Amino acid sequence: MSTRIARTTLTALALACIATLGHAQQGKLKVGLMLPFSGTYAALGVAIENGFKLRIEEQGGKLGGREIEFVKVDDESDPAKATDNVNKLIKRDNVDVIIGTVHSGVAMAMAKAAKESGTVLIVPNAGADAVTGPMCAQNIFRSSFSNWQPAYAMGEVAGKDGKKKAMTITWKYAAGDESVAGFKEGFEKAGGKVEKQLTVPFPNVEFQALLTEIAAAKPDVVYAFFAGGGAVKFVKDYAAAGLNKTIPLVGPGFLTDGTLEAQGAAAQGMQTTLHYADGLNTPRDTAFRTAYAKSFKLQPDVYAVQGYDAAQMLAVGLSAVKGDISKKAEFASAIEKAKIDSPRGAFTMNKAHNPVQDIYLRKVEGNENKVVNIAVKNLADPARGCKL
Ligand code: BEZ
Repeated sequence: MSTRIARTTLTALALACIATLGHAQQGKLKVGLMLPFSGTYAALGVAIENGFKLRIEEQGGKLGGREIEFVKVDDESDPAKATDNVNKLIKRDNVDVIIGTVHSGVAMAMAKAAKESGTVLIVPNAGADAVTGPMCAQNIFRSSFSNWQPAYAMGEVAGKDGKKKAMTITWKYAAGDESVAGFKEGFEKAGGKVEKQLTVPFPNVEFQALLTEIAAAKPDVVYAFFAGGGAVKFVKDYAAAGLNKTIPLVGPGFLTDGTLEAQGAAAQGMQTTLHYADGLNTPRDTAFRTAYAKSFKLQPDVYAVQGYDAAQMLAVGLSAVKGDISKKAEFASAIEKAKIDSPRGAFTMNKAHNPVQDIYLRKVEGNENKVVNIAVKNLADPARGCKL
């Protein structure tokens, strides 16, 4: 071996040792998992955690070279407790990164705390438009959707389908309000008119009076935003009132995702729009579904995909900074440039760190939200108010 080659080899070896030592010295990455594990969104929180942990398991128990330690909080989908909960993770537990949450109202409190403290936040569900709008920040990312995205797509689909008069019904909080606004925008652009907007307080599931109002008004279509336990109850009540025979019920895919076994016959034939669907039949999705079913003895839903992709995004950022999450600009830049190889189909980020993704039209067949077609290709949230 010449002296030059020997020296180069030694240098490479030394660098590798330093890198390994660096990771070892960094210790475990502390991840705060702030999700609902009780209440109407409990199943969504569990699916997100499962998806996140599946990706870590696939990476040999590490992300970006770092082992992971979890601090878990049940946020109960309660905005009134959100600031305290997130501040405990940031200030008491000193987490390196926060993954959460499902409920838009809770997510907005989390985004505020993350922005103020600089802690990395990856939102694996909550669609609050503001999180990747006026509240956008270098350290805040979303692996899911904005409330506007699937809603706008459903509005376009219903309008192009020739529906003229719509009624909407939702829980009265940010997600419902924004979902209805997105639907209205797409629907009215396509020639329809939203004639009446009905609401119930979150997480109330007393729908009878409003169903009577819908029956009397006889719109061409009803658009509803509910998810989890509330979606099960609403779809069943709608069918029990006989409305599914005369007025098509549509919505963003949360209305029928992870809920079909419980909804049974009441959901059959329903059309929804979402960034995930059953029957995509791509090698990436099939591998994910097989691994998820093996680990959890369950079929994955959109929430599991979003949790899985939150881990993929975190891994991209961590790899770029060799596990040193304090390098915020490099961490963000790596995710901004990445193409995330998601089971839903590959996606990129818009300037506000929200996925630019295909929105599928799906139809319920048995226990599946079967893909019909791509309703809107590469749909980017407009990121209104984001100054990044
Ligand atoms: C939200 O609050 O943003 C939300 C909750 C459940 C499903 C989808 C969105």
